[in-house]
Amino acid sequence: MIQEARKYQAFYTKSTPIVDYMVNKLKLNSNDKIFEPCGGDGVFVEAILSENEFANIDVCELNDGAYQTLLNKFSHYPNVHLRQCDTLLDSDLIFNSGFGGVYDKIIANPPYGAWQDLDKRAALKKVYHDLYAKETYALFLFRCIELLKDDGILCFIIPDTFLNLHMHKAIRHHILTNTKILELVLFPSSFFPGVNFGYANLSIITLQKSYSKIDCLNNEFKVYNSFSKVEQLAKICEAELRTFSFKQKEILANPDYAFFIADNINITDAINNSKLKIGDIANCVTGFYSGDDKTFLLVNSLELKNGKNYALVDANSINRDYQNIPNILDGIEGEKHFLPIVKGGNTKYLKPEGWFMNWSKKAVSHYKSDSKARFQNPQYYFKFGIGVPMISSSSITASLIENKLFDQSIVGVFPKDESLTYYLLAFLNSPTCNKLIRTINPSANNPANYIKKIPFILPSDEQKLFIDITVQKIIDGIKKEGIASKILENELNEIIETIYGF
Ligand SMILES: C[S@@+](CC[C@H](N)C(=O)[O-])C[C@H]1O[C@@H](n2cnc3c(N)ncnc32)[C@H](O)[C@@H]1O
Repeated sequence: MIQEARKYQAFYTKSTPIVDYMVNKLKLNSNDKIFEPCGGDGVFVEAILSENEFANIDVCELNDGAYQTLLNKFSHYPNVHLRQCDTLLDSDLIFNSGFGGVYDKIIANPPYGAWQDLDKRAALKKVYHDLYAKETYALFLFRCIELLKDDGILCFIIPDTFLNLHMHKAIRHHILTNTKILELVLFPSSFFPGVNFGYANLSIITLQKSYSKIDCLNNEFKVYNSFSKVEQLAKICEAELRTFSFKQKEILANPDYAFFIADNINITDAINNSKLKIGDIANCVTGFYSGDDKTFLLVNSLELKNGKNYALVDANSINRDYQNIPNILDGIEGEKHFLPIVKGGNTKYLKPEGWFMNWSKKAVSHYKSDSKARFQNPQYYFKFGIGVPMISSSSITASLIENKLFDQSIVGVFPKDESLTYYLLAFLNSPTCNKLIRTINPSANNPANYIKKIPFILPSDEQKLFIDITVQKIIDGIKKEGIASKILENELNEIIETIYGF
């Protein structure tokens, strides 16, 4: 049953406030032609019929079991038309889309992240060539926008990733130029009972199709977030929510048409208008993977976090002089062939040493030829730079890569002007930077492409000198006492706040 649910991503909308909010948003009229593209067990259909038992509803559902449930529940309604079909590939739906749409209202909770076999993915790619076929919810959204008549309204509950991620650029463009967004609400996925989707946040988007691109671009819409409980959906105007207003043409002017929803206008201004980005002043690259860490990676203590399944390194086999070895990228001759490597984990400024990679000639030649290994960006191995873990726990963190190897769970940030390293290290650890990266990408992921987009502002010479001295003191403190001084960190955060203005 669970596997079945995974395959079809059949997580049903078992939340009355969510269903009521969504049905409400459709502003149903008695003669509307309504479509539910992913019927499931029919929660939306039931809610619509309870408002108007004669509502004219077409329902599609792919899965046998769910389709049978729908038949049991609704086949005695002559006004409810059930079909077992694939909404994304169904030829009738594709045909109807080509004629400017046939529905007045559409409501859906489409599958998110449903696993597609390769044949299906290839078929989807053919029909939805501009869109990212691996994440089907955007395809459902596209198909349903096409199926709406002019002025028709659609309400979808979907992850909020379409607002910012690169892969959803095309669907953003389609929404902004073919529809008027009526309302967007953002809330934690925990509001959705029963299932942890692995998505940080969900959104409910209500759109009105418009054939007039000018009207779409001039449309202004509101975004609501910071819900504390799901019941607030019933009374959005009274609830104490954060509200943002945008014109669609403003969003279309953003890099990648991304929706930057930040509390502070200065943050979005910085993202949109900064002359320099981190990608201009630093190389941001993903690190190394052996292909088989259980064999090649060792620890210096079994107490090390996540270290228990790895063998202990013999202190005599660690090479401390590796920077003087010519052609180090070809590996090391002899017994002393283990080198320190920086891995993920959210530690600020400096990580304690713990992990060591086998860097013998034989091992390195394996890394270069093995299909699972990633001997990527080797020109940055053993260089002085900064490591930012790809996944942050709460805030983004950064620590020095002191001429070590760094693994693929880390983005290595190597300033083109090395003298900027300490400033960048302080900045990447600051709340200011966290606000920026979470506006650029609200999920807890920091892949290189997002780090590159963070605005960069050069400090004055005075500010830089103060920051360099303070970072050095923090690092010396960590080396001596094992922890970073909170007082010094706060001083750095304050000065970075002054530089950026938030
Ligand atoms: C997330 S559930 C939502 C069900 C229901 N609308 C609700 O909100 O409770 C998605 C439903 O879509 C169905 N489904 C998945 N892929 C589909 C497809 N390509 N065409 C039609 N239905 C599909 C699944 O079987 C599942 O019942």
